[in-house]
Amino acid sequence: MSEQIDLAPQRRKGTKGDVVLEVSGLDVSFPSGDGPVRAVRGVDYTLRRGEVLGIVGESGSGKSVTSMAVMRLLPTTARVSGEVRFDGRDLLGLSETEMTRIRGSRISMIFQDPMTSLNPVYTIGAQIAEAVRAHHDVSKQAALDRAVELLDKVRIPNARDRAGSFPHELSGGMRQRVVIAIAMANDPDVIIADEPTTALDVTVQAQIMDALSAAKEETGAAMVLITHDLGVIAGQADRVMVMYAGKLVEVGSAEDVFYTPRMPYTLGLLGSLPRMDRPSERLTPIPGSPPSVVNMPPGCPFGPRCPKHTAVCDETEPELRATTGPDHLAACHHAETLAGASADDVFDTEVADAQALHQLAEEGRP
Ligand SMILES: Nc1ncnc2c1ncn2[C@@H]1O[C@H](COP(=O)(O)OP(=O)(O)O)[C@@H](O)[C@H]1O
Ligand SMILES: [Mg+2]
Repeated sequence: MSEQIDLAPQRRKGTKGDVVLEVSGLDVSFPSGDGPVRAVRGVDYTLRRGEVLGIVGESGSGKSVTSMAVMRLLPTTARVSGEVRFDGRDLLGLSETEMTRIRGSRISMIFQDPMTSLNPVYTIGAQIAEAVRAHHDVSKQAALDRAVELLDKVRIPNARDRAGSFPHELSGGMRQRVVIAIAMANDPDVIIADEPTTALDVTVQAQIMDALSAAKEETGAAMVLITHDLGVIAGQADRVMVMYAGKLVEVGSAEDVFYTPRMPYTLGLLGSLPRMDRPSERLTPIPGSPPSVVNMPPGCPFGPRCPKHTAVCDETEPELRATTGPDHLAACHHAETLAGASADDVFDTEVADAQALHQLAEEGRP
């Protein structure tokens, strides 16, 4: 019968809970005519085996650049510093050849648009098989059998027949499941999914989250799940990092971040979620929009939008510090005052309107 593919031959997966990826002091900037675009500023995090880490923040907060830096996929114009330790080595110091060996086999990535990862002229079966063969010396037939098995794992119906389909013959949701199958193909240690459901409609989103869970179970990979929507990671992430203007502004367990947030920005994101309990109620939006990360003024970048804003917020940018426990960090001068507050308390509509007017007035100034 078919040849067995041992996907993790010499490799020991280590124990659940071991650190698999450690990012420290990551800084990324891009030169521009107006000065450097400071896309990522001093990001530190550890990812442990078997865990799902959610990264959330509005568009432009540096989520994608952080992950592209880890994968070494940024354009050559990017200035990157810091350390990305994976399996005892700093990925930022590896040669391109060494990095190619890691990408897709040890760390794989899923993007928002599945067509950026799929080739329109090959069948999906052939593309998954190719991903297997890129890192394993097996026959075409064995790789194709593995492809069918993977399609089945991400719940593509009639996987064997479907393997002969071209990407354009599939729906967007099915294509994204194929990309997840490719990401699993080599039994990676880490899967990074950057807005994997953003381009899809709500009913399909749940199927994609299911396929991601299947990928995690099957491979035991740790997962980084990036989204602008806290709702996507609710119930999925074990730990959550909130990003704003290139920095981490809140880090903690999902419970910490969802139930006892200590950064007003997190509260604002929570307030923007639709409510199951009061569906007809108006959402509490965060007034204003994120700042430019070129020539940033001193102080808290969220200050101009923040109802808790005081004079100190304009003077010094708050550092991450421990709040409700040693592993629950927030970057806010007024973190303590958020105890027991809900989004409604902090971002009530009047405050929101007042802030929006303030912002407009500020912007109107020369
Ligand atoms: N190739 C690039 N050149 C210049 N600026 C970039 C480039 N890629 C991203 N940026 C800037 O970096 C910041 C962070 O972007 P990004 O990580 O894509 O945000 P997010 O994924 O959180 O929406 C943004 O200000 C964005 O405009
Ligand atoms: Mg992004």
